[in-house]
Amino acid sequence: MKVRTEDGIKDMSAVWFDGGKVMMIDQRELPHSIRITGFDDYGDVVEAIRNMTVRGAPSIGAAAAYAMCLAALSGADMDKASADIKAARPTANDLFFATDHMHRLIKDGQDPVTAAEDYANMIIWKCTRIGEHGSKLIKDGMRIMTHCNAGALATVDVGTALAPMRKARDEGRRFFVYASETRPRLQGMQLTAWELNQEGIDHAIIPDGASAYYMEKGVDLIITGADRITANGDFANKIGTLDKAIAAKYFGIPFYVAAPISTFDFDTGTGGDIVIEQRSEREVTEIAGVRIAPEGSPALNPAFDVTPAGLVTGFITENGILDPKDIRMVLDDE
Ligand code: MRU
Repeated sequence: MKVRTEDGIKDMSAVWFDGGKVMMIDQRELPHSIRITGFDDYGDVVEAIRNMTVRGAPSIGAAAAYAMCLAALSGADMDKASADIKAARPTANDLFFATDHMHRLIKDGQDPVTAAEDYANMIIWKCTRIGEHGSKLIKDGMRIMTHCNAGALATVDVGTALAPMRKARDEGRRFFVYASETRPRLQGMQLTAWELNQEGIDHAIIPDGASAYYMEKGVDLIITGADRITANGDFANKIGTLDKAIAAKYFGIPFYVAAPISTFDFDTGTGGDIVIEQRSEREVTEIAGVRIAPEGSPALNPAFDVTPAGLVTGFITENGILDPKDIRMVLDDE
């Protein structure tokens, strides 16, 4: 992704490996500062996933792959490392997919650094393909809505939901993006808007509660990412996605989900079986560390919701745009 710094425009990924360390942009600091942090202990990468220094399903997967690499290089017990890494967060499938993938390759004697770098590069390639397929949906003058951050920050580079927008922009089309702020952690306002700004794509941040208001006024296309897609096409994504999908159905707006195959979980039958991460109530009751809720009022903070397959127009994957009914058939080709 292009990042404007004091030293000019730099090409950066969300997470990478350099000098024996897993490097990442600290996403908790954006958009105020671009802080790069590095770890040479797999346990510290687990903590970075847990505390959301790195977040977004495919970026979590890449961080997990690099954590497995560090564990292997340090001679750690790989079964324990794998269990520790998988325990970092419960919902995004990519965490489990990447950890198992690395575990297999390391057991087979592959070089851990090469295997982890290949994994991260494969994610970028898949996102590039998602962009190529998805950009065909974007016509000149469209108004597009997205939620949370499914951009380069969430996917090592390029993005899932934002990949078609980057590609359509590169192909010369003009369009407008509504980025919903994504309470309580504000990934839409702080990360998606930051990426769209860096890329010079026309956009506005809207409160989550204004989504249906703008849909009623005229939204042509909605694209979100996903954290886990189950065998029947239900999917988990950032809390607030379900509201958008329901409203989109009501207003007849196409609702697409962009995700690589690593996000599909065919071992889980339906969305009801997905473990939804419950985060601290302080993320809801406090702003910048200051309590704004009445003392004594508790808060609930589910990080994700599950949208039924019936509300999805199509899944934009590296293998093309798939009808929810066809996902297993096409993905079996992998
Ligand atoms: O809690 P987060 O910020 O990790 O949640 C991220 C999302 O919900 C994204 O929409 C999803 O991971 C898709 S990212 C390509």
